[in-house]
Formats: sequence, structure tokens, C-alpha cells
Amino acid sequence: MKADVLLGLQWGDEGKGKVVDVLTPRYDAVARFQGGPNAGHTLEFDGKKFVLRSIPSGVFQNRSLNIIGNGVVLDPVLFAAEARDLETAGVPLKDNLKISRKAHLILPTHRLIDAASEKAKGGAKIGTTGKGIGPTYTDKTARNGLRVGDIADNFEEKYATLKALHLSRLASLGATPDPELLARLEKEWMEAIEYLAEFEIVDGEYLVNGLLREGKSVLCEGAQGTMLDVDFGSYPFVTSSNTVCAGACVGLGIAPNRIGEVYGIFKAYCTRVGSGPFPTELFDETGKRIRDLGHEYGAVTGRERRCGWIDLVALKYAIMVNGVTRLIMMKSDVLDDFDELKACVAYKIDGKETDQFPYSIADGTIEPVYTTLPGWKSPLTAVTSEEQFPENFKAYIAFLEKELSTPITIVSVGPDRTQTIIRK
Ligand code: GDP
Ligand code: IMO
Ligand code: MG
Repeated sequence: MKADVLLGLQWGDEGKGKVVDVLTPRYDAVARFQGGPNAGHTLEFDGKKFVLRSIPSGVFQNRSLNIIGNGVVLDPVLFAAEARDLETAGVPLKDNLKISRKAHLILPTHRLIDAASEKAKGGAKIGTTGKGIGPTYTDKTARNGLRVGDIADNFEEKYATLKALHLSRLASLGATPDPELLARLEKEWMEAIEYLAEFEIVDGEYLVNGLLREGKSVLCEGAQGTMLDVDFGSYPFVTSSNTVCAGACVGLGIAPNRIGEVYGIFKAYCTRVGSGPFPTELFDETGKRIRDLGHEYGAVTGRERRCGWIDLVALKYAIMVNGVTRLIMMKSDVLDDFDELKACVAYKIDGKETDQFPYSIADGTIEPVYTTLPGWKSPLTAVTSEEQFPENFKAYIAFLEKELSTPITIVSVGPDRTQTIIRK
């Protein structure tokens, strides 16, 4: 068997959680391969709403096994809060969640360093989620990190060594923490570590490859989006992991020739949260309207998401670097009431048009070139099959498929699990 991958093609929050939940019944296992609690994946069903951060979005379907891969960074405190909420809601998490011993741990001091580094950057700050993501991945590549597997072996000493390193880093940033605050954070963290250790800790790469060898199906769940990838995104305004398809290989231990379908997910428009360039961003009433209609506020931080028209230059680039085989379009219903829609088909840079994503997309240097399409002016939320799609919506889909040379196989028309149209 091959593992399928589902990942975001824009700047995150495309609706990955919802679609992973919808697709889970087709899979034996769902695995997160990168990111951490910077993610906020929203699921809605039976009148309930859940936001998952570190736990895969397959947990609500009892049949599936869920795996937190080695590429994920785990904050024990946030993990414990998330997991306990799910247990309270009746999810048998200790049976259906396994955690890779190679996943790295986010320490309380990683979060403090995240905040101090952002402060030190001043106006050039990235606008991180403040969850210690960058500092934890930095320690991983600098070979200082603490991993889940370390809990079982001389843990206190390893923790003390890393903490000492962090305190000197914080001192150099002029952000020495208040000892009382640090003691409180550490106590809470160590308690959460004990809870984490109650879960089955596994060699994730053996588990995943064993499943594939037995003919079991695996869905890899991405976090963030391609334009936030540390190599291919809008660097330096990115996250610190590889959000692209190759990230599923290194974040789970799956060989590239074991990857099957690559589902690329995007919104019918575009959003971004945090700083950094966003060529199609709308600063006018239309942008505000999209934000209001789409409830575009961060699932993790509550921050306003910046909104704009769909960007086909960025999407084509994302499809290329991920090898996307199927597209999934989300939040189509948000555009129900617009007379006209715009799609960015090229960038004008220094007077020249290009459909390639440039090395630098510093704010203000790119002028988007738009094609205008007629709106469908009819509510999509109650639509149950593609035959019921209004003609102009069908035309919007056909236009995107032609431009992107990839089929759109799923269309989402509302936040609920049931508001999902699987196309023939
Ligand atoms: P993720 O991080 O990619 O999982 O996405 P988020 O959960 O952060 O953001 C997506 C938001 O859009 C959530 O609030 C979802 O409930 C909501 N959502 C998902 N699909 C649709 C849709 O088709 N229409 C509408 N109106 N909302 C949707
Ligand atoms: P999901 O999985 C949207 C953004 C932050 C910031 C940048 C770096 O829900 O789509 P970090 O805390 O990772 O160092 O922040 O990345 N960011 C996200 N934006 N959705 C996310 O996750 C994000 N995770 C990080 O806003 O600009
Ligand atoms: Mg999100």
C-alpha cells in the first residue's frame, strides 16, 4: 500500500482538519507529520465543534489508528489539555493514539525564547503563534533537542542541561524569566510529561511501514500550508518545518516511492495570519466582507486573518512542489453573495508579467494581474450533490481546474462534516 498525503496549499487554515475527518473512514490510520500546537484544525459534526492542535484529525472515527510522527513538536501541557478534553468527550484516546519516540518536546523555555526573539525582531517580527515552534525546531537541527523517547531515560538531567542552555539564551535576549513563573511552568510541564507517558510511545517509522506492508491504508495530515514551508514558503515569514509533501516522508519515515495520492487543499479565496507578504491581500471593504462571511479569525490565537482573492501563481507553485494529484476546494459558500470574483493569474514585477513564484515577494513589489469571473449569487450551503451547483459555480470550478491542470475532487460548502461534496 501507499500512503496518501493531505496538505495545505496556501498560508494555512485551508480546512485540513475538516477534510481529514471526512476522509478518515477510508483509512486505517491517520498520521500527523510536522508542526505542533501552532496548528488549529477545526472539525464540526453533530452540532459539536472541536479544534485539534497536535492530535490527528482522525481521532473521532473509532476504527482508525492515529499517529503523532517524529516530525511533530509536542508541548506536553497543551497536549495534555487537548487529550483530556477529548477523553472527556468520550474519545478512547489511549487506545487509538500512538506517539513517536522521536518527536521533539517543546519546553516552557522554548515558548519564552519564541516571545523574546519576536520582541527582539521589532517591526520585522514574524507574528508567530508564540508556541515555541521555531526554537524547538532550532534545537532539533542544532542537536540539542529533547525527544519523547528521552522521558524513559535520565530525563531530569537532560532537561536540566537544555534548560541551562535556554536560560543563557534568554539572558542574552534580555529576557531572564521570573524564577517563580518558571517554577510554576516547570511543575505544570513535568505533570503533563507524566500524563504523556501514559500513552503508547512507539517507533513510528516501524509502525507506519508495518501498516503499509500489511496492506493497510494511511493518510498523512499536514499542518500549516505550503507557503509557510521553511524552504519553499515566503521566507523568512514562514514556520520552521517542511509543510510540503516531502515533509511526510521525513516526518513519518515513509520512503518517497511509498507516497500515493497527494490531496492539495485550498480555499476559494486566500487568507494569511501573522506578518509577511501576501500579494492578493485586500485592504478594502471586500477583504473585510470575506473576513466576516468566512469567520476568518485564528483557531489558535483568535487573531484576525488577512483576506484576499485566490492566487493561482502561488497555487500552481504549491501544486508543483508537492506533486498534488487531487485538489480540494474549501469555503466556496463564503463567496455566495459576490457579484464578481477575481483570481490572480500572474504577477507584474517591475512592469513584467510572470506566472512563476519569485524568490522575494516583499510587500508592495508585486502587482497581481486578475481575471474577473461572475459570481453565482446563490447559497451553496444546502447543496448536496454537484448536479445542484449553480452554473456560474460550475464555471468557477472549470476555470480553476483548467488553470491548475489538476482535478478538483472535493468541494466544501460549509463547516459541517456533511457539507462536503465528493465529485464523480
Ligand atoms: P485547518 O487549520 O486547515 O484545519 O483550518 P482551520 O480549522 O484553522 O480553519 C478553517 C475554518 O473554516 C474552520 O473554522 C472550519 O470550521 C471552517 N470551514 C471549513 N470548511 C468550510 C466551508 O466549506 N465553509 C465554511 N463556511 N467554513 C468552513
Ligand atoms: P494550521 O495547521 C495559519 C503562521 C503564524 C506565523 C508563522 C510562524 O492551523 O493551518 P510559528 O508559530 O509556526 O513559528 O509561526 O506561521 N502559522 C499558521 N498560520 N495556520 C497555521 O496552522 C499556522 N501555523 C503557523 O501565524 O505567521
Ligand atoms: Mg488552522
